[in-house]
Amino acid sequence: MPDLLHRAEAILRECDPEQKALQTRILAEKWQNSTIRLGKQDAHHLPETPGRPEYLQTVMPGAVPRRRIGTPEGRIALLHAIAHIELNAIDLALDMLARFSLDPALTEKDRPSFVTDWLEVADDEARHFTMITKRLMQLGSHYGALGVHQGLWEAAHNTRNDLAARLAIAPMLLEARGLDVTPPMIEKLERAGDEKSAAVLKVIFEEEIGHVAKGVRWFNAVCETKGETPQRHFQTLVKRYLPAGLRPPFNHEARERAGLSRLYYQNFSPDWGIYKNFGIKWD
Ligand SMILES: [Fe+2]
Ligand SMILES: [Fe+2]
Repeated sequence: MPDLLHRAEAILRECDPEQKALQTRILAEKWQNSTIRLGKQDAHHLPETPGRPEYLQTVMPGAVPRRRIGTPEGRIALLHAIAHIELNAIDLALDMLARFSLDPALTEKDRPSFVTDWLEVADDEARHFTMITKRLMQLGSHYGALGVHQGLWEAAHNTRNDLAARLAIAPMLLEARGLDVTPPMIEKLERAGDEKSAAVLKVIFEEEIGHVAKGVRWFNAVCETKGETPQRHFQTLVKRYLPAGLRPPFNHEARERAGLSRLYYQNFSPDWGIYKNFGIKWD
């Protein structure tokens, strides 16, 4: 039977989104029940980009249409964008464990709980993807009905050679950004009378706090091994890899609950002139 790291790679390559979500959930259960071993994997074998279905139309980041949440088309566009984020989040969590579980910055003792944490995240993301696509279908649409862009994967993929940088950019910046923007989306959905979509986003929001918390915990652990000050190192890495990604407004309360205090992101001054066209759209 293939080991966990090879299965994670195979699921990264899986093109069918429903299969990817399902196989992720099966893998997480196997690891939880101790019916699969970690194994060995060379990170060079991992795909540059995760598998995507042929029917999915990729567009430039600026070309994803913005629509008002007050209209049915607007809500479908919003949920479609979130479904794509969740699909990328499955891949990012699998890539995290497939690429970095054997990283020298982790102690031998830490490795199994690193794998457990990111498989739990992947499992949550698979569930989020399924919840959102189910809601899309209730609204008469489906995943793949609209164009998507690759900004999220590309932003994280730039950090593929550095575990601390990956933790800084994926969970601590990109997922933390989700904590900032989700509560206003929930409010808008409720105001538009779409309680069902709002309820799905509420579940996702609470669970995303846990994902950011895992990111902070592992980032701090890696910084300790490297003798770096976490808050300062976080800012250095964000400036190097994605300065435009760290911008207000911040949901300080939710970030605080995840252990991401203001010390990590206060007094941060990106060079907007260089990075303003990075192309990640949040709202
Ligand atoms: Fe998620
Ligand atoms: Fe997440």
